Amino acid sequence: MAKEQWGSRLGVILAVAGSAIGLGNFLRFPVQAVNNGGGAFMIPYFLALILLGIPLMWIEWTIGRFGGGFGHSTAPGMFHTLWNKNRFIKYFGVIGIFGPIVIYIYYIYVESWLLGYSVFALMGKYNGCTTVESMAAFLNQYHGLENGEHFHGISTAYIFFLITFGLNIWILYRGVNKGIETVCKYALPVLFVLAAFLTVRVLTLGTPNPAIPENNIANGLGYLWNPDWSKLGESKTWLAATGQIFFTLSVGFGIILTYASYLSRKDDVALSGLTSAVTNETAEVIFGGSIVIPAAFAFFGGAATLSFAAGGPFNLGFVTMPVVLQQLPLGNLFGFAWFFLLFLAGITSSISMAQPSVAFLEDEFGITKPRASMIFAIGTFVMTQPSIFWNGKGVIGEIDFWGGTVCLVIFATIETVLFAWVFGMDKAWMELHTGSDIKIPRVFRFIIKYITPTILLLILLSWFWSDLPGILKMEKVAEDNVPYILTTRLMLLGFLVILVYLVWRAWKNKPQGGTSNAT
Ligand code: ALA
Repeated sequence: MAKEQWGSRLGVILAVAGSAIGLGNFLRFPVQAVNNGGGAFMIPYFLALILLGIPLMWIEWTIGRFGGGFGHSTAPGMFHTLWNKNRFIKYFGVIGIFGPIVIYIYYIYVESWLLGYSVFALMGKYNGCTTVESMAAFLNQYHGLENGEHFHGISTAYIFFLITFGLNIWILYRGVNKGIETVCKYALPVLFVLAAFLTVRVLTLGTPNPAIPENNIANGLGYLWNPDWSKLGESKTWLAATGQIFFTLSVGFGIILTYASYLSRKDDVALSGLTSAVTNETAEVIFGGSIVIPAAFAFFGGAATLSFAAGGPFNLGFVTMPVVLQQLPLGNLFGFAWFFLLFLAGITSSISMAQPSVAFLEDEFGITKPRASMIFAIGTFVMTQPSIFWNGKGVIGEIDFWGGTVCLVIFATIETVLFAWVFGMDKAWMELHTGSDIKIPRVFRFIIKYITPTILLLILLSWFWSDLPGILKMEKVAEDNVPYILTTRLMLLGFLVILVYLVWRAWKNKPQGGTSNAT
């Protein structure tokens, strides 16, 4: 099977940026920022961007292109190529397929709510829910958590889930160039136009209620940009900022390795990696930071905004935003712009989470794309059901924790050590600059070799030491939810074992690996 290729350089940059720009930019970022002291959050955030995010972007683009040259599009084969004397390293690469799928199986469900809400906005279905309480009830009814005037049961949500799921599989089935690249080429410009349109609208809201002058846009922006220095002393702020950088850039997932494997050796990775990171950060900090927080501050005030954000990860996006937007002239249209923008951001990310598994089946087992897409569809369809039917039992948060936090840091640590220490920094630096359109400042050589792995190891150690025992014992899980969380964990564990087995099978069938430069 000939290896797939991107159609153009712009196409691959848009695809990686599309993977990065997602629900994380518009929903997760504002909630993290508000919950962690606003401006105080931004300091560790930018530090993590420079010391972890951008170096990891370069590491992943480089390993991906290198591994692609040996016919591997996923981490097991790539890790083996980097260190082919080690028989076990390929098993660590499993995390680069497992992690994205674990995120995918709840992310796609949230993405489907956005499609539903885009339609509801146009139909004016939630008009009349003009308070936060009534809008929260609308969301609960949609999730099937309560019956009421808007929805009975989960059938509407399930229909939107099926449509979203089908769309994702169809794009995957179309392939890297005709599917992923084409969708990102159209979706990203539309997304930027919608985001700019909403940003301008929100920033011109001024002081919506002159009777409460302190509830205004400037105070919302001020909260995000004026550091509360006392919060900087809290390790929670630093961990949250670091976690956000991973999630938003899609680094530590394994996705960028796969996308970069479709490059050819003469293609630049240094400038492309940087461009995709900058594009994502523009979407996150400029647009993600200027819509939800200022709008909520202007309409509800600072104290209420903080309490909504603390109440749940979806409150600002799905509850306060529709309440605010429906009060504006052409509110339905703004509501549609908001939810459809998020849907586009979501779908360009979810397809990227799916691609490593499809590519793994294609590369390592010689399975055709239609069959690989079908196997992926069946497996993930089953695994998505707990997020749908046990939503409200803490299952989405649990899955996000393992996929969207733990796997990312572990995977990033392994790939960084492999790249900088096993493959070796001299070769790594040369590889990063092969075909490069820019020369990366040498200080990043030092950062990639010493600073990035040290920070990652420290995060991992502190996490294993202080958090893991309590998490394993489910100390913070409500008693009623324990059976659901336990079943979800067993499902994830079972899936991990299957993937390890598949890697073992693939290597048993056809011993492979490619030539390693590691000595
Ligand atoms: N990077 C993707 C997002 O931010 C996963 O949603």
